[in-house]
Amino acid sequence: MLSMKPHLVLAHHFWSEVVEPGDTVIDATCGNGHDTLYLSSLVGKTGRVIGYDIQPEAIAATKRRLEGAAELKLLSHEQFEEPHATLIVYNLGYLPGANKRVTTAAKTTLQSVHHALQIASRAISILCYPGHEEGMHEAEQLLAWISSLKETYWDVSLHRWPLKRHSPFLIWLTKQTPPPS
Ligand SMILES: C[S@@+](CC[C@H](N)C(=O)[O-])C[C@H]1O[C@@H](n2cnc3c(N)ncnc32)[C@H](O)[C@@H]1O
Repeated sequence: MLSMKPHLVLAHHFWSEVVEPGDTVIDATCGNGHDTLYLSSLVGKTGRVIGYDIQPEAIAATKRRLEGAAELKLLSHEQFEEPHATLIVYNLGYLPGANKRVTTAAKTTLQSVHHALQIASRAISILCYPGHEEGMHEAEQLLAWISSLKETYWDVSLHRWPLKRHSPFLIWLTKQTPPPS
């Protein structure tokens, strides 16, 4: 039996395919730090992991889990402060075990992923949770957004359970190499 949910197993697998030791990566929703810790193992001692969250308890939980091995920012993710990252990951929704009303929101998530397109050099990973009201709205907005990316250098794949409308799903975007000019 899988010890992690399948959407997380898949996301972690994709991340491991694009991240190399020494890379800089951003966890846009660090929460309890599980994903941040995994990213930290991928970049190694020579790399950087920057984690964002708007809740002090999330930043504190991630700090404890990482034992100082990540740069954590108590900031909303619309405005990343880094000019570049190999990979940017989102695990949307609310902090497990905390106030469910403090959740990622469609408007700010859309602003953030637009910004991510400018600074991510390899990939963007977005885990969506349509099982609650704001999560469903956010997921619908993101699905509309990915269909607008046809004319860009981004390859988009969608990984979901077609018969389970409320199950979590993954949007995985990878940057194509531009043709030589
Ligand atoms: C599902 S949890 C993330 C789980 C986390 N990746 C882990 O491995 O434990 C979603 C997190 O997004 C955070 N969040 C909500 N809105 C945010 C925003 N605008 N910017 C950054 N983080 C936000 C929440 O506080 C919550 O901790």
